[in-house]
This record gives sequence, structure tokens and C-alpha cells, in this order.
Amino acid sequence: MEIVYDLLVVTHLLGMAGIISGVVARATTTAGPAGAITLYSAGAQVITGLALVGIASAGLVAADVNNTKVAVKLGVAVLVLVLAHVLWRRPQTSGKGLFATLAGLTVANVVIAVFW
Ligand code: HEM
Repeated sequence: MEIVYDLLVVTHLLGMAGIISGVVARATTTAGPAGAITLYSAGAQVITGLALVGIASAGLVAADVNNTKVAVKLGVAVLVLVLAHVLWRRPQTSGKGLFATLAGLTVANVVIAVFW
């Protein structure tokens, strides 16, 4: 199960890179695949994150689960997912508020993952 967990961590990190790529792409232009990249990557983060927690909580790998940290990360990730969905459905959404919030929350989840 160790290998499955490690592959999920790799996918989780690629998902984070995917959100950042989508953010950078959208900062350049609202046209193109930026919205879809961000949305799919945000979905991947929630799925792989929950899978990691499930495997660790089941005691299948030697990894501790901090439930408070995971709950906060899940809340932030769901917000990122909702914002990604809004920006995907309405790429022309005026103002930079939603977009900046999405980018900020993603970075916040990276900081929480590393420092908490
Ligand atoms: C925008 C969403 C997310 C981002 C950007 C993100 C980012 C990260 C990063 C950068 C790491 C690696 C940290 C390290 O190795 O020190 C990590 C690990 C982890 N994340 Fe997330 N994460 C997100 C969502 C989630 C969610 C929703 C969950 C669970 C519900 C979750 C659960 C975990 C777990 C359990 C690990 C530890 C993996 C290990 O054993 O090293 N993450 N996350």
C-alpha cells in the first residue's frame, strides 16, 4: 500500500502544480483552457487528498493524520473548487477578486500543508 500512497502524493503534488499552471495561464488570458485546467486540478486535489487521508487513517501506511489540519485543508480546497467552477463557467467574470482569492487560497493550502 506504501507504493499506492506514494503515487497519490505524487498525483497530489501534480494537482497543486496544475492549479498554479491554470492560474498563471488565466493571468495571461481569459480565453483558452486555463479554466478547465484549474477546475480539473482542483478536483484532483480534493480526491487525492481524501484518498491519502483514508489510507493513512485506515493504518495502511505509517503516516500520522492531523484531523484538524485535514479539515481546514478540505474546507479551503472545496472553496478553491467552487471558485474554479465559477471561473470555468464564466471566464469573462469581471474584476480580479475571485481569481485572486482562488490563487491565494491555493497558496494558503500549500503553506498549511508544509508548516502546520
Ligand atoms: C488546493 C488544494 C490543496 C493543495 C494546494 C495541497 C497541497 C499539498 C502539498 C504541497 C502537500 C505536500 C506537503 C509535504 O509533503 O510536506 C500536501 C500533502 C498532503 N495533503 Fe494536500 N493539498 C490540497 C488539498 C488537500 C485536501 C483536500 C486534503 C484532504 C482532505 C489533503 C491532504 C493531504 C495529505 C494527507 C498530505 C500528506 C501527504 C504526505 O504523507 O506527505 N490535501 N498537500
